[in-house]
Amino acid sequence: MSNAVIIYASTHHGNTKKVVEAISKECGVELVDATQVHEKDLSGYDLIGFASGIYGANFHQQVMNFAQKNLPQNKRIFYITTSAMNLDFSKSMGPSVKDKNAEVVGYFSCRGYNTFGPFKLVGGTSKGHPDDQDLQDAVAFFRGLEK
Ligand SMILES: Cc1cc2nc3c(=O)[nH]c(=O)nc-3n(C[C@H](O)[C@H](O)[C@H](O)COP(=O)(O)O)c2cc1C
Repeated sequence: MSNAVIIYASTHHGNTKKVVEAISKECGVELVDATQVHEKDLSGYDLIGFASGIYGANFHQQVMNFAQKNLPQNKRIFYITTSAMNLDFSKSMGPSVKDKNAEVVGYFSCRGYNTFGPFKLVGGTSKGHPDDQDLQDAVAFFRGLEK
């Protein structure tokens, strides 16, 4: 089993937090909230995740800052996002990890309840997500990385 940690930010509805907490509970992974903790020695971890809600097509600024500041060279990393569009937003992490020689070993994405801006008027989008299936899929994704 790998020595893993997930750095996350989940400021809209706690959607991403639900996902990383499911993984933590099932697989015993350590979680770090990047909105609270800005510095950490990650040299002892061999699998490092960056998880975030998507805000204006980007990971949370604090997750990007954390990676830029704390990610050591030559690590295996992975991404988790929850978003309204459920697209691949990993590109937004590019500048923060570009000089780290990291190997991106996986990316999990699912929908997350969204009430940003005008969507609030219609009761939000992706209500109920992440749901139980999303959480199960996230745990399966993480187990796949550990093999
Ligand atoms: C300010 C803001 C901007 C957002 N921008 C996007 C976006 O560009 N693309 C998208 O798919 N979802 C967008 N969303 C929806 C969130 O990514 C989605 O609700 C996500 O699950 C929030 O995660 P959290 O509850 O962990 O913060 C945005 C939400 C907010 C509040």
